[in-house]
Amino acid sequence: MKSELLLVLVLSLCVSSKPLSKRRTYNKLLLISFDGFRWDYDQDVNTPNLDELVKEGVKAKYINPPAITMTSPSHFTTITGRWIEDHGVVHNLMFNDKTGLRVPHKATLKRSEWWDNGALPLWITAQNQGLKTASFLYPGGGVNYSGQAVDRFLVEDHGQPDDETEWRQNIDTVMGWFTKEDFDFVTLYYGEPDNVGHTFGPETPERIKIIEQIDRTIGYLREAIHKNGLTDHLNVILSSDHGMTTVKMASEVNEIKLSNYMSLFNLARFDLLDYGGFGMITPREGKGQEVYDSLKNAHPNLTVYKQEEIPEHFHIRKHERIQPIVLLADLGFNINSRVILHINKGDHGFSNEEMDMKMIFRAFGPDFRDNFLAEPFDSVSIYPLMCKLLGVVPEANNGSLSDTKDMLVDNFDAGGSSGRIKVSLSLLLLMIIILTLI
Ligand SMILES: *[C@@H]1O[C@H](CO)[C@@H](O)[C@H](O)[C@H]1NC(C)=O
Ligand SMILES: *[C@@H]1O[C@H](CO)[C@@H](O)[C@H](O)[C@H]1NC(C)=O
Ligand SMILES: *[C@@H]1O[C@H](CO)[C@@H](O)[C@H](O)[C@H]1NC(C)=O
Ligand SMILES: [Zn+2]
Repeated sequence: MKSELLLVLVLSLCVSSKPLSKRRTYNKLLLISFDGFRWDYDQDVNTPNLDELVKEGVKAKYINPPAITMTSPSHFTTITGRWIEDHGVVHNLMFNDKTGLRVPHKATLKRSEWWDNGALPLWITAQNQGLKTASFLYPGGGVNYSGQAVDRFLVEDHGQPDDETEWRQNIDTVMGWFTKEDFDFVTLYYGEPDNVGHTFGPETPERIKIIEQIDRTIGYLREAIHKNGLTDHLNVILSSDHGMTTVKMASEVNEIKLSNYMSLFNLARFDLLDYGGFGMITPREGKGQEVYDSLKNAHPNLTVYKQEEIPEHFHIRKHERIQPIVLLADLGFNINSRVILHINKGDHGFSNEEMDMKMIFRAFGPDFRDNFLAEPFDSVSIYPLMCKLLGVVPEANNGSLSDTKDMLVDNFDAGGSSGRIKVSLSLLLLMIIILTLI
């Protein structure tokens, strides 16, 4: 009788020894983006560390970027879960077609008015729900949203070096944020393999080399996670923003040069051309139809849309920053305006339906299954997954958790990955054993 009473007492003690806070304990999350990491870049390179992650984590064969396959638009879709027409970051440049303003990509990283259009990125939402978040060079992480900044951020301002030592230091810094400062969510950005893909082209020994460097960096990351005691407390999602394809040159094809078909000076008030496979033109007053007619059948590998003709499934049409004429070139055909410069041997900006624009997705950590191959999905669905992992109530978004929820361990919703609950369960067992012995 006495020991039964004691058992009840101990039982209630064990129950109340669960975390007192209303949130159950969620693991931390690191989102890493390697810019321009095409989905198949690991297939012709020796990548022991990425291979290891297939066994010890989740791999999607590939994932789909949003329809403007460019750095800022795509990264902002990942961090907001919104289509481009809903978040408004429609280009790498900040621009104003009325004033002719063009702000280069690096400078946009400090301009709130380019990013802050009403769609709240996850950093801010998570902070508003009590979490600590940080951005290490991730596009959009360095500006204010409704007046609010990310708790800790570093902004890319000197062109990102491909120095492997610096890459490792960046990982050490992020590990310190998690362990010494108890950050919950950090985004980490690397400018490779995009730079190498542009400069040398994707099908080159230089690209192979940079993928080997990235693979070593992932190995370093895994060691660092282990050394910092984060193995059971940190989930990692590794992805990108778009792929890369070889630019087709004159010896092989008839390159696109718009000035062959129309006078840009006479017909256009503003344009965003010479950025890979995607371009926009703002016609002069009353010249819209003339621009359209001049380009519509000009080149077999150029598709021309009036804004209202853009297929809905691209999810770009609705935004006011989309200009009246939108151009999309076939894979590998750059949209040149007045001269063909051949600065880039590789490029992106092409349709997100092209396999060369698809990107990598990997994930590992305590809440992810081992050896799980996920079906391809839209990158917009990374957002609800991240919210679920962090226990954050998501903003309205265009992603779907049904794309990604199977990646999680079976008992995720039961809180099975929470260390503290496991401890109190084993404590309970121990108590019962002791009591039955009394
Ligand atoms: C963000 O807001 C702070 C405080 O008002 C301000 O000092 C800072 O310059 C702003 N940053 C940007 C990028 O606008
Ligand atoms: C370019 O256009 C031609 C004619 O329509 C087509 O046969 C070819 O496949 C196109 N090239 C690409 C890369 O789509
Ligand atoms: C995307 O999400 C926003 C916010 O919920 C919504 O207003 C919009 O209609 C959605 N877009 C599509 C195509 O469903
Ligand atoms: Zn990019």
